[in-house]
Amino acid sequence: MKKTLVINTSLQSEAGNSNQLANEFVSKLENQSPIQIDELDLAKIQLPHLTQEEMAAWMTADSARSEEQQKLASISNNLIEQLQSADTLVIGMPMYNFGVPSTFKAWIDRVARAGITFNYSENGPVGLLKDKKVVILAARGGMYAGTPKDSQSQYLKDVLAFIGLTDVEFIYAEGLNMANKDQSLADARQSMDDLLTAAY
Ligand SMILES: Cc1cc2nc3c(=O)[nH]c(=O)nc-3n(C[C@H](O)[C@H](O)[C@H](O)COP(=O)(O)O)c2cc1C
Repeated sequence: MKKTLVINTSLQSEAGNSNQLANEFVSKLENQSPIQIDELDLAKIQLPHLTQEEMAAWMTADSARSEEQQKLASISNNLIEQLQSADTLVIGMPMYNFGVPSTFKAWIDRVARAGITFNYSENGPVGLLKDKKVVILAARGGMYAGTPKDSQSQYLKDVLAFIGLTDVEFIYAEGLNMANKDQSLADARQSMDDLLTAAY
């Protein structure tokens, strides 16, 4: 059975717009065909900023790691294993101050690992994750999609491609702090149905 990993990143967890849309998308996906669902709520697991000590633990051979280094290395190792085992990623993605939630950045800092999820070749970086679909449910208070100010979407495309995730679809719910919130959510739900019909 195919596995879907749902990564929610709203600081509001279940009350977040992006979180609700991501969970709705997964329910619709599940209605189409049976899937195994794995959930990761980054607001709940409280990943700290990456530190030199944690990176040094990655660089130390497994057999040479201290007990503390084993603990530190297991944070990234477990997140990568969870990511590698998924066929589809569904990501709830709020825009916070033009960027991604810092919890998501802390996750990225642990899953982008040289030799495991990317390599540098003579021609530049090569992503090592393969054959996964990614759907991003992007919730924003304002309206930015398709404009030069939407650096969040470009960052997500670039960093996911860096580790080999190139099949990425965005569904936007924008203007959620403006008058058109209901219409915007309805449009996002229609986009979900369209994507499910076309690609799943
Ligand atoms: C700390 C913070 C920063 C925000 N920054 C932006 C922003 O830069 N651009 C924007 O359009 N909306 C911004 N918003 C509004 C959120 O994108 C909007 O409330 C969205 O629904 C958040 O997703 P969520 O409900 O899943 O948390 C911000 C909200 C918060 C709490």
